[in-house]
Parts: sequence; C-alpha cells; structure tokens
Amino acid sequence: MILLGVNIDHCATVRQARYRGAEPASGRAIEPDPVTLALLAEQAGADGITVHLREDRRHIQEHDVRRLRETIATRLNLEMACTPAMIRYALALRPEAVCVVPENRAEITTEGGLDVVGNRERVRDCIAAMNDAGIKTSLFIDPDQPQIELAAELGAPWVELHTGAYANAYYGSDRAREFQRLRLGCARAHECGLTVNAGHGINYVNIAEVRTLPHLHELNIGHSIISRALFTGIGEAVREMKARMNP
Ligand code: PXP
Repeated sequence: MILLGVNIDHCATVRQARYRGAEPASGRAIEPDPVTLALLAEQAGADGITVHLREDRRHIQEHDVRRLRETIATRLNLEMACTPAMIRYALALRPEAVCVVPENRAEITTEGGLDVVGNRERVRDCIAAMNDAGIKTSLFIDPDQPQIELAAELGAPWVELHTGAYANAYYGSDRAREFQRLRLGCARAHECGLTVNAGHGINYVNIAEVRTLPHLHELNIGHSIISRALFTGIGEAVREMKARMNP
C-alpha cells in the first residue's frame, strides 16, 4: 500500500486571495477553511496532511498549522525551509514529520530539489535537531545519486524524491528518461536505507506510472487533488486518487 499525504496549501491559497490579513477569530465567514478540508480528506482515507509554511506566508498561516496540530487524527507533515527560525518553529510545534524544501521567494511553487551537497552543514544540523526531538525528517531532493547518498550519510530517515521534472516531461520526449531517473533514485535511496517518498506534479493521469516506482512509501499530492475537489468534493477526490495509487 502506498500512503497518501494530501497537501492542502492550495485551499489556503484560495482563502488568502480574498481574506489576506483577516483575523481568523473575527466572526466573519472566512472561506475556504483548510483545516475543515484536512479533516474531510482524512475521513476519505488520507494517511497524512502536508502543509508548507512559507516564509512569505502566502498560503498556509501559523494559525492553520496550530489548528491542524490540535485536530487532525493522522500525521502532520510540515514542509519548511532549512532556516533557524523554521527549525525553532518545528521544535515547538512537534509535527510527526518535517520535509525540508528549498525556498525561493520568487518561485510560484517549490521548483527544484534541496541542494544537500551544497548545504551540508545546515542540513546536517537540521536533521540532528529533528532526530533528537523524535521528528522524522524528509529531504525533498532531485533523484540524483550524490544528493541521495549524502541524505543517508547525514542521518535523514526519509527522502522525498522530486517528481516535478518527470511530470513536466510527461507529454514530451524526455518522459522515459525522467522516469528512469526516478526509478534509479528510488532504488538507490532504498539501498541506502532511506524510506522513499515522492511528490510534486503528480496527478490522476501520471499516477498510473508513478505508482510503479520501486519502494514507494508515501506520495504527497496537492494541486491535482485540490483541483479535482472543486468538481467532486474533497472526499471523492481523495478516494479516487487512493484507488488509482493502489488499484
Ligand atoms: N511535495 C513537496 C515537497 C512540495 O513542495 C509540493 C508542492 O508544494 C508537493 C509535494 C505537492 O506538489 P503538487 O501540489 O504539485 O501536488
């Protein structure tokens, strides 16, 4: 069984488009509420809820994360930049897992994998702090051997392999090459003793191929599920994705 982490950031994106700066306790009908969405996703079979608390707070807010921490019944996976402020935040929050991602203010969404090789000391210190606190760390990396091997060497229990390049190449001539890169990445990560997650750009079409990657533990999927939920509701969107992940 491949597990599904539902990324609810885009529910907050819609809310922020109208209610940026609104006080959550103001009594106004501030919608849509990402925490309600998370609870409905869990009821439909989501195995975890993922949020990215970005430095610019463009979608998920700290009050969302606090409420998720108090209410969800599955696992909270906090995506975060490898900064002292976010490390302090995670240690105070104590989510079940953190996923360390690169963060660039100008990007529309997380664009490349974390450069573990180029940020070795910072990443090592972050993993050590999380390991000490009993929080599982995942590193969001491109499926490249040096990044994978260093993730294991630095003591990360998990990696999340970035499927974005594959998803972008899906209708082009590089699809087979990008898929092979992911296959080899999954195999190498498993050999190195890492738990293998994957995410970014996974949808109801490419899941048919993504799910055949070896050693997959969990997929984190956001945009496609939230998009489908506009038409079907979140419950049906989650059930359909899980059915396609584990037919
Ligand atoms: N995993 C990580 C680490 C991400 O940064 C994102 C995007 O926020 C996702 C998974 C989900 O990507 P998508 O929204 O394309 O499904």
